[in-house]
Amino acid sequence: MTIAVTLPDPEKLVWWRDHLRELLPDHHINNAAEISDPQTVRYAVVWKPPEGLLASFPNLKATISIGAGIDHIAADPQYPASVPVIKTIGPDMTQRMCEYVALHVLRLHRQLPELQKAQTRKAWHQIVTPTAPDRKVGILGLGHLGCHVARTLTALGFDVAGWSRSGAAPDGVTGFNESGLNRFLAQSEILICLLPLTPETKGFLSKPILEQLPKGASLINAARGAHLIEDDLLAALGKGQISYATLDVFNTEPLPSDHPFWTHPRVLVTPHTASLIDPVSGGKVIAANIRKLEAGHTPDALTYISRGY
Ligand code: NAP
Ligand code: GLV
Repeated sequence: MTIAVTLPDPEKLVWWRDHLRELLPDHHINNAAEISDPQTVRYAVVWKPPEGLLASFPNLKATISIGAGIDHIAADPQYPASVPVIKTIGPDMTQRMCEYVALHVLRLHRQLPELQKAQTRKAWHQIVTPTAPDRKVGILGLGHLGCHVARTLTALGFDVAGWSRSGAAPDGVTGFNESGLNRFLAQSEILICLLPLTPETKGFLSKPILEQLPKGASLINAARGAHLIEDDLLAALGKGQISYATLDVFNTEPLPSDHPFWTHPRVLVTPHTASLIDPVSGGKVIAANIRKLEAGHTPDALTYISRGY
């Protein structure tokens, strides 16, 4: 029985393969491109797999995403739909995302960009900001990460609401479902995107959505670049409808050097590092999930491409 590993970056591939070999010493773990007998592959551990690769393993029992998102697997039109996909979400990934969002919400809430601008003029520019309970923060997507982020922001005192298909929300967080979208947007002074990328959510952060936010609202996108219509954000920033944007994910990654986001005075770019998964902690989660599957149990994070997330 073989576990096939594939990532576009050859160094990361070796890093993951070697860690998984340490964690699962009783399994054959190989670079997917070097597997001579595709019949032997039972599991595939993947990030952005080449089109058709997973369909070439006739006995594939499950595909393990090296990350929380499964859009990079769903992008393969040849993916065998009956094979389940396991998302990888561990405590480190959750913690990192909570830290990232807390950092950027506090930065925007306390108007740090204004203070930094004032410092360049040596200006003693005192700003009285509202306190967190008077700041309304909205989270698009209240799944695993959205719920943890909501709890973190609630613990900091923010007035937190979330939007999801079901509208279910953790204690202390106001939940909105699809029919409540307009009301949710109208009150979100800082909007955070933590939606999965699916056909329904692609291009969601567009002019009609941004226009429903309170004038001068801020945006944090830590989900996927394809959620955002970049030109619509640039136009909204130009009109002052959006004050600031913190963007971790982009339509093209790495962000091309001539992209206007790099130099925009009210855009902060981070290089898809909100919650990077690493083979040390992520590998443990993957190894535990493979052991569960081998024992006939269903990992919590099991899903299907047809569900979308
Ligand atoms: P998740 O547990 O699958 O949760 C997804 C949430 O989105 C759920 O609340 C779901 O609603 C909601 N949703 C899905 N489709 C929707 C729709 N059409 N309309 C309204 N709500 C919808 O996902 P997660 O683990 O929290 O992760 C979210 C995303 O974060 C991932 O898919 C990935 O793209 C991104 N991510 C980014 C980084 C980074 O470093 N930037 C790191 C990790 C993850 P229900 O609750 O009603 O099902
Ligand atoms: C990272 O972007 C992930 O999906 O885990």
